[in-house]
Amino acid sequence: MPDTTPSADWVIAVDGPVAAGKTTTSLALASALGLNYLESGKPYRIIAFEALHRNLHIDELHAIESLCEDLLAASDDASVLASDRYAPQALRLRPITALVPLVARIPGVRQHVTRLIHRWAALHPRCIIEGRDIGTTVFPAARVKFYLTATPGVRAERRVRQEPGLAYQAILHDIMRRDYADMTRAVAPLTPADDATEIDTSDLTIEQVVHRMTTMCRKRGIEQPAAGTEAPRQLATPPSTQDT
Ligand code: DC
Repeated sequence: MPDTTPSADWVIAVDGPVAAGKTTTSLALASALGLNYLESGKPYRIIAFEALHRNLHIDELHAIESLCEDLLAASDDASVLASDRYAPQALRLRPITALVPLVARIPGVRQHVTRLIHRWAALHPRCIIEGRDIGTTVFPAARVKFYLTATPGVRAERRVRQEPGLAYQAILHDIMRRDYADMTRAVAPLTPADDATEIDTSDLTIEQVVHRMTTMCRKRGIEQPAAGTEAPRQLATPPSTQDT
């Protein structure tokens, strides 16, 4: 695969399991430091969404890879990520959430998504990207890397607090299933990068986590740009509906 990696000098990588606090803290950091923000799970969800709409079976690898070719490779400016077709609510429906870990295991899909993220980052320098493999695989030379985690029980409780209709045991089971899928896949499994700052958010408030992250970024020379020089942009699902 040709090296499409743009400069990682202004990339902040935020990795970790589902519901560890990545989205809320990344958006807060983006706002505090004037950074562009990308939720890198979105392209995987877009592929799962289209695969379902086209009645593709997960074993139809060629068809899924050519779907990536049509949707992701053809999006020179990464604009597929901003398409109205992929509303946050649609991408977070249960059948998509169930299918997406299977889609994310396919090496060809990961290559396409990695290239898409590189194109997006080249167009949005000074960025914070959250995901599972940003610091290990997508931007191994990112200027700052965080790995956020929390116990499965705490993560399940957070989910239930966000959406009180959810049953704790079912959410806990789902979180553990998704952790297992993310951590055991053959390509780019979820694991902290050797040089990542690990933060266990189980007993911390959002403010405490954001404070630690902001302090680390400032130490590494990442500051809010002078007024009027840069504006943060956002390509994310609203925090109330996603991995907080
Ligand atoms: O963060 P999320 O739940 O929207 O992620 C959706 C899926 O994509 C999930 O199965 C993990 C996977 N993913 C990944 O493998 N690598 C990333 N950088 C981001 C997400």
